[in-house]
Amino acid sequence: MTTVLGISAFYHDSAAALVRDGEIVAAAQEERFTRRKHDAGFPSQAIDYCLKAAGLEPEQVDYVCFYEKPLRKFERLLETYLAFAPSGFASFRMAVPLWLKERLWMSRTMRRALGANLKSSLIFTDHHESHAASAFFPSPFDEAAILTLDGVGEWSTTTFGHGSGNKITLAQHLQFPHSLGLLYSAFTYYCGFRVNSGEYKLMGLAPYGRPTYCDAITKHLIDIKPDGSFWLNTEYFNYCQGLTMTNDRFHRLFGGPPRAPESNLEQRHMDLAASIQSVTEDIFLRIGRHIFEQTRSRNLVLAGGVALNCVANGKLLREGPFDSIWIQPAAGDAGGALGAALFVWYQLLNNPRRANPHDSQKGSLLGPRWTSSDVERVLSGQGAQYSTYNHEPELLDRVTELLAAGKIVGWFSGPMEFGPRSLGARSILGDPRSSEMQSVMNLRIKFRESFRPFAPCVLAEEAHNWFDLAPGQESPYMLLVAPVAQSRRIHASAEEARVMAEAPDLRERLRMPRSTIPAVTHVDYSARVETVDERRHGRFYRLMKNFYRKTGCPVLVNTSFNVRGEPIVCTPNDAYRCFLATDMDALVLEDVLLVKGTVAPAMAESERERHLQQFQLD
Ligand SMILES: [Fe+2]
Repeated sequence: MTTVLGISAFYHDSAAALVRDGEIVAAAQEERFTRRKHDAGFPSQAIDYCLKAAGLEPEQVDYVCFYEKPLRKFERLLETYLAFAPSGFASFRMAVPLWLKERLWMSRTMRRALGANLKSSLIFTDHHESHAASAFFPSPFDEAAILTLDGVGEWSTTTFGHGSGNKITLAQHLQFPHSLGLLYSAFTYYCGFRVNSGEYKLMGLAPYGRPTYCDAITKHLIDIKPDGSFWLNTEYFNYCQGLTMTNDRFHRLFGGPPRAPESNLEQRHMDLAASIQSVTEDIFLRIGRHIFEQTRSRNLVLAGGVALNCVANGKLLREGPFDSIWIQPAAGDAGGALGAALFVWYQLLNNPRRANPHDSQKGSLLGPRWTSSDVERVLSGQGAQYSTYNHEPELLDRVTELLAAGKIVGWFSGPMEFGPRSLGARSILGDPRSSEMQSVMNLRIKFRESFRPFAPCVLAEEAHNWFDLAPGQESPYMLLVAPVAQSRRIHASAEEARVMAEAPDLRERLRMPRSTIPAVTHVDYSARVETVDERRHGRFYRLMKNFYRKTGCPVLVNTSFNVRGEPIVCTPNDAYRCFLATDMDALVLEDVLLVKGTVAPAMAESERERHLQQFQLD
C-alpha cells in the first residue's frame, strides 16, 4: 500500500488531499476547519482530517508532495521587483519577510508541521503541473487535451498540453505578467469586489450589462492572438509593482476611480463586467480551438482558478470543438493539493491508470462526515429540541412538504464537499418556483448583495427538459452554465424586457417574471446547473426525486450552507449556529430535523450579531 499526501498552502485556499494506491481517499480545504475564508495558512487541520480518514499516523505516509516550487516562485518575485525597481518596493517589502520566514524553508516547515517522525519523501511539483494533474487524472478520459488557467503559479499563468494513460505533458506556457486570471481580477478589483473571491460576483454581474468596453479592453489592455495566446499591456496595471491591481491610466480609460466596496453599482460596472466576461469567453474559445488543432483530442480537461468561470466553460462546451469537457471541481489552488498527490502516484511512480467512466472524484464528497448519533450529542449539549427520523422516506416527505410550502431548509448530509461549491452535502435549499425566493435567500439567509443569482440543482435525467443541455450531459460539479430551456421561459412584454435590461435598481430587474423557475433563472435566462444523480449524491438525489414526484418540479435552489463571508459549514455545530443566526426555517442534520418556531429555540439577538460579525464581508 502506498499513500501520498498532497498539500497546497501559503497563497490562498490551503488544502490537503490523501491518495492511497491511486484512490482519492480524502480532501479538504483548511478554511472549513479554521472558519477563516480562503485561509492560506499551513493546512494542519485538513492534514489531520485526511490522515484520520485514511486511518494513518503521519509516519505511515510514504510521500508528501507540495503543490508548487517555492524557489522558482521566489525567483519570480525577485525578478519582477528588479524589472520594476524601485517602484515595486512596497509590495516587495510586504512579501519578503513571509518568504524568508516559512516559504523558502518549506521542507523544514512541512517536517515541523507533520511531526518529527515523518519518514516520507518530500516532493515539490510545479504549480501548473499540479493543476493539470488535478484536471486529467481524476477525469473520465483515457486521453484528453489539458488547459490550465489561473492568476499565476511560479511563472506560468496558462498552460496547455495533453494527458494520456498515466502521463501528462504540458507543451506550451504563457508566463507572468501575461495572465487572464490577473486581468479578470483587475476588473474584479476595479468594480469594487475582493480579488481572489469576488471574481464570482463579477461573473454574476455580467448579465446585467452590455459588453460596450470590449474594444477598449482589446485595444489598450490585451493583445489576443488567433491561437488565444495574449499579451497584457502592463502600463495599465499595478500588480507587478504595487499593492493594488490597477493604476490611474486604467482608471482614466474606464471613466473614473475604482468603485468603493459596498457602494452603489452603476450601469458602467455592469457593462465592464459584461465586457471582461465577453473577452474571457473569446480567449477560451480561441485557446480551445488551438489546443484541439494541436492535440486532435475530442476531450478537454480544465483546472486553475479561471476554470471556475462556468459561463465561459458552458460556452466552450456549446460552441467549441470538444465533445466532452471535465473540470476539476476544486479548480483553484485547493485542488493543487489533490493534483500534486495524483502526480506522484501516476507520473512519478509510474503506476498504471484506467479512467473511471464516471470520473474518480467521487462527487467531490471527500470531506469529513458525522453520524446521526454525533449530531444528537451536539444538539443535546446545546439544549436543542429535535426529531430523529429512522425511516428515510418519512424524513424526505417532511422536508419535501416544507420546501413545497416555501420554507428554506438547511441540508447537511454525508461527507463535506471539496472545492468552492455546495453540491448537496452542505447546502441551503429552496423552491425555485417561488418568485420571492431569490431576494429572501439573498437578504434574510445569506445577508449578501441582492443582485446575486442562485444556482439550480436538477435531477440528472430531467436536466435536458429544463435547461439547454444535451440529453445525458452531466454537470455534477456545478461548473457549467446553460440557458433555461425555451419551453420553461415566460415571454416578457416589451416593457418587462426594458425593465430587465435597464432598471437602475437590480431588484426590480429580478422581480420580472422570466421562467417557471424564476429563483434560479438569471436576467439573461442563464443558470449555473448542477445535475444530481443517485450514484454520486445518494440521499440528496432521493430528496429531489421525492420533491419531483410531489410537485412536478425536478429542480431545487441549491446554495452554499453559509452566510456571506463565512466558509461553508463543516461540522453539525457550524450548521446549527448558522441555522440559528439566519431566517432559515428548518435544518436537516443527517437523520435529525429541526424546525424553527416549533421545536428549535431562536438565537438571542446579541448572540446572533456576534456570530455574524466574526465573518468579514467577502
Ligand atoms: Fe493556481
